[in-house]
Amino acid sequence: MAQQKKRKADRTYFTFTLLMISVILVFAFGLMIGKQNNPQQAETVQKSLSVPKDTPTENNTSNNISESNTEPVTQSQKQTIPEYKQATSFWGAYSHVYLRVNHEKQLELKTIANFDLSDAVYGVSDENIASVDETGMLTGLTKGECIVTISCKEETLHIPVTVRELTVIDGCTYVDGILVANKTYGMPAEYDPGMLPETEEAFKKLQDDAKELGLNIYESSGYRTYQYQISAYKSMCDAYGEAYACMYSARPGYSEHQTGYTIDCNSIDNTFAETAEGQWLADHCHEYGFIVRYPENKEDITGYNYESWHIRYVGIEAATEIHEQNLTLEEYLDVESVHNHVDGETEMETETESEITPEPEQPESDFITSEPEQSESNFITSEPETTMPVESFIDAPLNAPV
Ligand code: DAL
Ligand code: ZN
Repeated sequence: MAQQKKRKADRTYFTFTLLMISVILVFAFGLMIGKQNNPQQAETVQKSLSVPKDTPTENNTSNNISESNTEPVTQSQKQTIPEYKQATSFWGAYSHVYLRVNHEKQLELKTIANFDLSDAVYGVSDENIASVDETGMLTGLTKGECIVTISCKEETLHIPVTVRELTVIDGCTYVDGILVANKTYGMPAEYDPGMLPETEEAFKKLQDDAKELGLNIYESSGYRTYQYQISAYKSMCDAYGEAYACMYSARPGYSEHQTGYTIDCNSIDNTFAETAEGQWLADHCHEYGFIVRYPENKEDITGYNYESWHIRYVGIEAATEIHEQNLTLEEYLDVESVHNHVDGETEMETETESEITPEPEQPESDFITSEPEQSESNFITSEPETTMPVESFIDAPLNAPV
């Protein structure tokens, strides 16, 4: 009887132990399954296999630049992914390309000797902003920024591109908000904003800082109305002839002085460039938002002779970019400056001298300080002088607002 009881107890103990072992096994198996289904851990696995979207490879180095490379890269992958290398064997003629919507620009590459660029491959980071063809012809599509890439011989060059938009409001032309006044783009006679406060404030600050350095920069000619410019341009034409005058003086309606953003400083001749004031102004006016509007050696782009004294307010950001890249406003905004309109557009042909008011601030007797190279001609009679070669520009002193 006692033996029977012991055997029963042993069987119960054995069954219980077996049950416990089964329970433990089932629990452990369940844990393993659970781990595999854990979404966070699954992501880790996936991530460790992923390759960054923008990883350049031998086949895609030309057109796949973007800021969307947000996925992490493991240390071992970092070592094997080739990095973009800015081209050293060739480079672009630009550090930045500026062009307007619907405008084209041929990208120009420069190369070290014997480096063949004919098989260069072009691409853009955003095909909505600009397109580029297989010859490197870039076309602006919509206002914005992108990067053009040029790949050749396993090297890639990246050039930022800004596509700008031109708008006309009440007869005035703006490119990305900057008012344009040059030989191509004018303003209506009634556009009469006066000297604008932002120009005045910036110039005052410039003057004050210059003064602290012992430099005297003063305004010789500031805001000029359309009517005033009629007199100024006519005086110049009467004195020197139109061909000469149009290299220095803007036709009425086309002078930057009518924008309210422009100031002529100090002596209004290029001896100013040699003075401490002139040199400081050239080096520092961008810090106040001004540019020297008609630089030396850019006469064929601006349409005007070098004017070291004439500064234009465009804001600090634009002025700094223009200064640092040695550009003209025409290059920065991708606009031309060519006298391609008929003079009848202005009031000059219809207005008699008696209608011209006010008179120039400076008497005409003070105006002519050197003999003109060209004989005097009648006021505005001939075809526009758009083809005058740069070599024929004359650097004579001018003691009148121009
Ligand atoms: N001297 C500049 C071109 C003007 O007349 O506005
Ligand atoms: Zn001026």
